Amino acid sequence: MTEEIALKLKIASILGLAALVLTLAQPATAQPQISQGQQFYQKVCAKCHEAGIGPVLLGRGLPETTFTYFVRHGNGPMPAFRMTDIDDATLRELASYLSKSPAKP
Ligand code: HEC
Repeated sequence: MTEEIALKLKIASILGLAALVLTLAQPATAQPQISQGQQFYQKVCAKCHEAGIGPVLLGRGLPETTFTYFVRHGNGPMPAFRMTDIDDATLRELASYLSKSPAKP
């Protein structure tokens, strides 16, 4: 009897784990792919630049170097971001994303 309960518990926990794995695997396939750079923009830069604290960055066709420069050096109230905040590869993606972004309607 207790063995049967133990077995049922084992099966239940395996099924639970399988369900968890499936749930965790879901967003990766369901969500549209956005680059690390774009994610960084949305998580960090947008807090100021889409909240009226900093000027709008999207859709202005600013050169990529403008973004890499300001991000590494800061600008008045805007903090500088170090390699430990955003690495060069992600910063390049971010700059390319912002530089090419279409104007917001
Ligand atoms: C804490 C708020 C804040 C955050 C976070 C922030 N900025 Fe800024 N940013 C500003 C402000 C304020 C200015 C305008 C400063 C000024 O002109 O004195 C600015 C200016 C800029 C400029 C110059 C734009 C222009 O028209 O002169 C660029 C480019 C820029 N930010 C890019 C970024 C990027 C990319 C990120 C994300 C990595 C970011 N900023 C994160 C506040 C912020």
